[in-house]
Amino acid sequence: MTPDLLEQGARRVEAHRAHLSASYRSTASGGRDAGIGRFATPGEVDTTHGRILYLEDVSVSFDGFKAINRLSLDIAPGELRCIIGPNGAGKTTMMDIITGKTRPDEGRVFFGSTIDLLRHKEADIAQLGIGRKFQKPTVFEQLTVFENLELALKTNKGVKASMFFRLDSMQSDRLADILVTIHLADSVSRLAGNLSHGQKQWLEIGMLLMQDPKLLLLDEPVAGMTDEETARTAELFLTLKGRHSLMVVEHDMSFIKTISEIVTVLCDGAVLAQGTLDEVQADERVIEVYLGR
Ligand SMILES: Nc1ncnc2c1ncn2[C@@H]1O[C@H](COP(=O)(O)OP(=O)(O)O)[C@@H](O)[C@H]1O
Ligand SMILES: [Mg+2]
Repeated sequence: MTPDLLEQGARRVEAHRAHLSASYRSTASGGRDAGIGRFATPGEVDTTHGRILYLEDVSVSFDGFKAINRLSLDIAPGELRCIIGPNGAGKTTMMDIITGKTRPDEGRVFFGSTIDLLRHKEADIAQLGIGRKFQKPTVFEQLTVFENLELALKTNKGVKASMFFRLDSMQSDRLADILVTIHLADSVSRLAGNLSHGQKQWLEIGMLLMQDPKLLLLDEPVAGMTDEETARTAELFLTLKGRHSLMVVEHDMSFIKTISEIVTVLCDGAVLAQGTLDEVQADERVIEVYLGR
């Protein structure tokens, strides 16, 4: 990392201090957050340089077509970053790369400043604290809302461990909190199959939250939702911000307007523009390729 990037990181920590949850806050000794030479606790994501996710010069080709083309991007701890861009821009492929589903041909992808995601497999990356929500809801329709949330804790535990699995009191408390957060506290014993499309999406987000991810990647989360469901999802994301870092890909501009701070516009596999929604909407190049005249 260059001194320049470190300096940028230090500024980001300052800029985002307001959103940071207790675990991200300043050291007890009052040390500088972006100080050089501090060590992260093993198993924890080191965000002392002001970013939870960092992509540098990432490229991937499919049959000679560059879906991602020297993409560089970073996200601050607790940030809610919106990603917009035309179809085929590489938004989903970027998430595939972060989560280990697709290996890039070139570039660097870091979780915090010490975890090289390119050295980890897809399952490990989920364990490290990166949760991903695909476009289609994937809940277990034959199970209740409660059972779906409970099941989210059992995954990767093996059959025998799962059979004797019981929620401990901390997990029960978390489940109860999450039910409220995802607006499903009144539907605990309903079958997931009987929920509306929007409720299924919330349930799936709840299942991700059960694993307490540090970073959540959400691909077109409000597609197919009613206006009311979309508004409640915006509310939900705003409550998650700060406690988790979020990367949200969406086409719905009024939704983006409600939740966004920094918006990144992807086009042809790279960042075309970045700034507030007003800034990127006023950018001629963005209007040309995405927003239309
Ligand atoms: N596994 C794959 N094999 C071949 N081409 C792919 C694959 N994944 C994505 N692409 C291509 O890469 C480009 C970017 O796709 P995608 O990331 O899905 O875009 P977006 O999510 O922004 O709409 C598209 O042209 C798509 O056809
Ligand atoms: Mg996509």
